[in-house]
Amino acid sequence: MQRTLVVLKPDAVQRQLVGRIIQRFETKGLKLVGLRMVQVTPAQAGEMYLPHKDKDFYQPLVKFITASPVVVMVLEGVGAIGVARDMMGPTFGPDAPPGTIRGDFGMSRRYNLIHGSDSPEAAAREISLFFEEKDLLEYDLVIEQWEYSEIDQ
Ligand code: RTP
Ligand code: MG
Repeated sequence: MQRTLVVLKPDAVQRQLVGRIIQRFETKGLKLVGLRMVQVTPAQAGEMYLPHKDKDFYQPLVKFITASPVVVMVLEGVGAIGVARDMMGPTFGPDAPPGTIRGDFGMSRRYNLIHGSDSPEAAAREISLFFEEKDLLEYDLVIEQWEYSEIDQ
């Protein structure tokens, strides 16, 4: 099973879209193994967006992600990283097709509601920024036997 870090950004919290976005992931069958609300510090934002340090949008991005609390979660499932990214849609709201989270809920090229890890290496790094191993819960979902067949693992 793969794990990914998903962050509901300050605009998602401020626009009270948290429940509706989490519901999409649950309905898809991704399993919540960690969830909490945090105020991202500038230091954490710097770590989170290290790969973008030299981009011209880096400073506004750090300002945005630290402007208000966010919701951080770890989702688990087969191919969870790619599945979550596909559900988010392309980076900019106006370009994101209907049916994706960014496509259905946003118009902005900066306030784009959600972040998801883009590789296993990024997922490991990003999860460790917000969660200790003990905070990630291992448990069985009773519906799991009907979400995956023996060919899906
Ligand atoms: P994310 O990292 O947040 O999941 O989004 P992403 O992979 O789709 O996009 P990425 O290229 O990693 O960019 C990170 C975040 O920076 C903001 N951004 N602004 N040209 C711009 O002004 C610009 N480009 C990117 C977005 O908030 C994007 O999610
Ligand atoms: Mg990215």
